[in-house]
Amino acid sequence: MGNIRANTPYSFLSNLESLFSVSLQNSHEIIANFHQEMRSGLAGIDSSLKMIPSFVHRPTGTEKGSFIVLDLGGTNIRVMAVELDGNRKTALAAVTRFVIPQPLICGTGDELFDFIADCIQLFFKNNSLGRQQSYDLAFTFSFPVEQRSLASGKLIGWTKGFTASGVVGKDVVTILSEALQRKEMGFIHVVALANDTVGTLLAGSYSDPLCDMGVILGTGTNACYPEKVSRIVKSAGLGPPSGEMIVNIEWGGFSRLTTNIYDRELDSASNNRGKQQLEKMVSGMYLGEIARRVIVEMMKQGLLFSERSLPVFSEEYMLRTEHLSLIAQGSDLFADSTLKNVSAIDIRTIREICRIVSTRSARIAGSAIAAVVAWMDENLESDRTIAIDGTLFEKYPGYRENIMAILHELFGERAKKIKLELIRDGSGIGSAIIAAVAASGRDNFPHQTPDARI
Ligand code: GLC
Repeated sequence: MGNIRANTPYSFLSNLESLFSVSLQNSHEIIANFHQEMRSGLAGIDSSLKMIPSFVHRPTGTEKGSFIVLDLGGTNIRVMAVELDGNRKTALAAVTRFVIPQPLICGTGDELFDFIADCIQLFFKNNSLGRQQSYDLAFTFSFPVEQRSLASGKLIGWTKGFTASGVVGKDVVTILSEALQRKEMGFIHVVALANDTVGTLLAGSYSDPLCDMGVILGTGTNACYPEKVSRIVKSAGLGPPSGEMIVNIEWGGFSRLTTNIYDRELDSASNNRGKQQLEKMVSGMYLGEIARRVIVEMMKQGLLFSERSLPVFSEEYMLRTEHLSLIAQGSDLFADSTLKNVSAIDIRTIREICRIVSTRSARIAGSAIAAVVAWMDENLESDRTIAIDGTLFEKYPGYRENIMAILHELFGERAKKIKLELIRDGSGIGSAIIAAVAASGRDNFPHQTPDARI
């Protein structure tokens, strides 16, 4: 389908609404296709869902200890000290956030990991942590990794705009350990590697045994769930067939969605063209850019602001999801900008664009959540807690309600059995739980997959 042609903002928006709509029927189709892709992914057959075994199962709630966590997942790095009391309670004893300079995201892997090691060094200095003892570090690395054991895994490919060279295909734990050695921090041992979804699920189920799904709705989006080992057909020998292992779905890659012209243009201009279709329609990294593309089109057609102001919107990714979130909260972001003569209709139009783009995101996310829930519990018979981390879910006005709306359409009254639980910092805290399991030697999985085909 091509672009919308309209004479008034109103008719443009009503066309836009249908272009971005996800009907109940669409949602049922998404679920059916999702299940097919999950099945293929688990069988090692070509699939847009990687279905990656994580070598981790759910915690018991008795894991204990203090751990350093490095969380790398977007443009921020977080280094934290996490304490687990062994009785379902966790505490963040210290946390420092560092912004990764843009050139490092697209530079060389060595530069990126040297910067990360510097951040860890600063964290140690600021928190007066001495080098006279050794430390266990859990590494939350929120990219697709072909995990080979609890503390090793090769990067399959970068997502979320990263392109740092020399990392794809390599073991990221080795790369991090080498960077630590270069900075004379060999006293830090990387004992666990986890995706942020797995961390979030572990943090959720450490405190709530009913929790059996971890979801990230932030810069990127993804989910994980505990799968029966017998169903992970592609990786024979992962443990007792009756046991479970958490599987990282990498649902951002799901490719069976109906895209429109804005999605396709965003995709062709991206540095991972043809990849991460669901992520590009749902996650925080992209919603602002979709909205910017719609705004530019309306301006070109003389339906919004003044065409002379087009240069204001010419830079890709200048409009961020945080901006949309502010607009949705009622802020007149554009009223005091360099745009001249912003009318009340313009403001209303912008709000509508934000609503349309974010509603589609939440309805696709809700459909994907429903697909995983139905995979685990076809008739939604049990109560389920879903641990969710990420600013899109946490901060975007109405996002949670939009997810709940589609769950109600799909499951009716039974949707009440689903509890969406915000687990702040879950991605980091959960890795500490994995490190505790590793330290106790209770990760009863073989340490190598005989033939893990992702
Ligand atoms: C991207 C990554 C995935 C991560 C998600 C959320 O989709 O590929 O591993 O979980 O972002 O951060």
